[in-house]
Amino acid sequence: MFQQGIEIKNLTVRYGDYVALEDVNLRIRHPSFVVVIGPNGAGKTTLLKSILDLIPHEGNIRIFGKRPKEIRNIIGYLPQRERINTNIPILVRDVVLMPVSARKFVMSKNDTKKAKKYLKIVGMEDYWNHRFDALSGGQQQRVLFARTLMNEPHILILDEPFSGTDVATKMSLIKLLHKISKNKTIILVTHDINPLVECTDVVVLLRRRVISYGLVADTITEENLEKLYGARVPVIRREKICYVAGSDVHV
Ligand SMILES: Nc1ncnc2c1ncn2[C@@H]1O[C@H](COP(=O)(O)OP(=O)(O)OP(=O)(O)O)[C@@H](O)[C@H]1O
Ligand SMILES: [Mg+2]
Repeated sequence: MFQQGIEIKNLTVRYGDYVALEDVNLRIRHPSFVVVIGPNGAGKTTLLKSILDLIPHEGNIRIFGKRPKEIRNIIGYLPQRERINTNIPILVRDVVLMPVSARKFVMSKNDTKKAKKYLKIVGMEDYWNHRFDALSGGQQQRVLFARTLMNEPHILILDEPFSGTDVATKMSLIKLLHKISKNKTIILVTHDINPLVECTDVVVLLRRRVISYGLVADTITEENLEKLYGARVPVIRREKICYVAGSDVHV
């Protein structure tokens, strides 16, 4: 069942008269680590939301041969921006346990153990009983990351997951993703591919349409980046790896 991966055929998304995505075709193998890059407004979030079937779209999307809604429980999603209602004093542990509380009323010891394990992985184990709204933006992001892992999903869809996190947190999350990507499919949107080039299997260059996709070394070329961003972006090559010039390129 899991060999089929994700198939996207003729995906077009319109917001009113505006075409945000046009005829996107992608075949993503399982497991694989896919990174999506592109300028602001390119349709990256729209692509992820289509894969999750959260927005109306034309075309056909199948995950392991099924409609996304049928297998939503095996997909973990970290949205680009998420509003957690902080009018009520919700605790860190409540946030991490949300995927469980959505399914059942009573938590088992095992659920609590798992939640603590994932909080530890993101370096937030000391905040179990802290108020979520009292955390910094980066700390909140780490807690939300832990929550995304709670259901031990086969597919992870991460929309700019490192936004607001410091460099050490970012590197430890990347290490974690690299480790778990051996048997998961990860689709990750970022504006900074450099720290990910070594773990990325496939990079997708998106600007309303797919400009190019494939291995990092074949796809991250100056010619493709110019098509993508409409500006010259130098690429530094080192053996089979290549980097986009600039330490934290927000292109
Ligand atoms: N709900 C909406 N209604 C109308 N237009 C929308 C809506 N959501 C997105 N758009 C438009 O669709 C285009 C793609 O938006 P999207 O959020 O997918 O871009 P993105 O690549 O994720 O950008 P960013 O890098 O800024 O996150 C943008 O021009 C945006 O203004
Ligand atoms: Mg976005």
